Amino acid sequence: MAKVIYPGTFDPVTNGHIDIVYRAVELFDEVIVTVARNPSKTILFSVDERVEMLKESFKDLKKVTVDSFDGLVVDHARNLNAIGIIRGLRAISDFEYEFQMALMNRKLAGEITTILLMPHAKYTYLNSTIVRNLAQFHGDISEFVPPHVFERLKKKFGYK
Ligand code: COA
Repeated sequence: MAKVIYPGTFDPVTNGHIDIVYRAVELFDEVIVTVARNPSKTILFSVDERVEMLKESFKDLKKVTVDSFDGLVVDHARNLNAIGIIRGLRAISDFEYEFQMALMNRKLAGEITTILLMPHAKYTYLNSTIVRNLAQFHGDISEFVPPHVFERLKKKFGYK
């Protein structure tokens, strides 16, 4: 059973993250999408809200489960007996940070492999901050997030 985790802040989950998960389920037996409980970022949605949105997004994928974690990502991977950590690589600008994180995680836990997957090119400029910024000004983000996430953002930002 090849089990991997896909960690992130997911504030909120976007179609780019979903694209990565669809690629990961083609390769692995089980994919655990895991929400960082204490990221070094200002957060819009609570952990519970982020987990709920992820669960809704992957309700049709039997190989996917959703949880959350505190502390080091490699400790969480070890606790779950995962063989690897999935990360998305959108552009060359992501590379240096992902490379550094992958090597540090390898130093901490040599048995856990980082796997970098590229989303579809149409998502290379997407991130959760851009989605939140557009939503703040009531922009149309229907291309970037699933409808249920758009609904939550509409409520948060009082779209008319
Ligand atoms: N589609 C759309 N957006 C994507 C994406 C994709 N395929 N892949 C990445 N992104 C976005 C994310 O939404 C995020 O956007 P944001 O900054 O607007 O929130 C950004 O790209 C990536 O941010 P990053 O900080 O790299 O990742 P993250 O916030 O998703 O998750 C953790 C980082 C939580 C995995 C990492 O900090 C961690 O492991 N923390 C635990 C502590 C630890 O173990 N530290 C040691 C690591 S060496």
